[in-house]
Amino acid sequence: MDTRNETEKIKNRYNRISGMYNFLEIPMESMFSKRRREMLKETSGKVLEVGVGTGKNLDYYPDNVEITAIDFSPKMIEKAKEKSKKIGREIKIFEMDAQNMDFDDNTFDTVVTSCVFCSVPDPVKGLKEIRRVCKNGGKILMLEHVKSNKPLLAPLMDILNPIPLNLYGANINRNTIENLKKARFENIIVKDLWLDILKLIIIRNEK
Ligand SMILES: C[S@@+](CC[C@H](N)C(=O)[O-])C[C@H]1O[C@@H](n2cnc3c(N)ncnc32)[C@H](O)[C@@H]1O
Repeated sequence: MDTRNETEKIKNRYNRISGMYNFLEIPMESMFSKRRREMLKETSGKVLEVGVGTGKNLDYYPDNVEITAIDFSPKMIEKAKEKSKKIGREIKIFEMDAQNMDFDDNTFDTVVTSCVFCSVPDPVKGLKEIRRVCKNGGKILMLEHVKSNKPLLAPLMDILNPIPLNLYGANINRNTIENLKKARFENIIVKDLWLDILKLIIIRNEK
């Protein structure tokens, strides 16, 4: 895979749908908002949100955390900045690729992702970067959809994958738990939230 080309392609897809993203996500958001709230109340200290998108999580962070957020799509970032202004919260938001972050090693106490590792072109590279910038003993919280292991659903997700991939830039057949292992994460706690597809992943970063 030519990661640089793939990255430009996926970034452009998110730029293209940025204006419609919140509208397209309305049907899913009733299920997601509760999950976002539950996950984000576990954040503490210096928090990095990777792939902030239009800023859907920003409503749910505790008041006492310091939030930094990145996304590689400038158009999604515009929306996230509008959101942070609307909720009156100071958040550092940077245009940055999760596969190659500008932060020093061991910068953050908590790293958060939601529905991001379906899209990152080289997910293992992005996960290794999270491991690097998160402090030793820090927490990684992920709300991610993955490919089902069920016999009928798994091949169906492979067949349907080109639709969301071309429309959004998101894959529905990623094996994010395997990717976490490839990125050398241990102590991975996984909770199924909807079927075996939507998962809450909690990791204590040990390095
Ligand atoms: C499906 S959206 C999810 C947005 C948000 N986290 C949410 O829960 O609504 C995926 C986001 O990840 C961003 N993204 C994907 N790959 C990325 C990368 N390599 N670096 C930074 N952002 C990335 C996309 O631009 C997009 O905004």
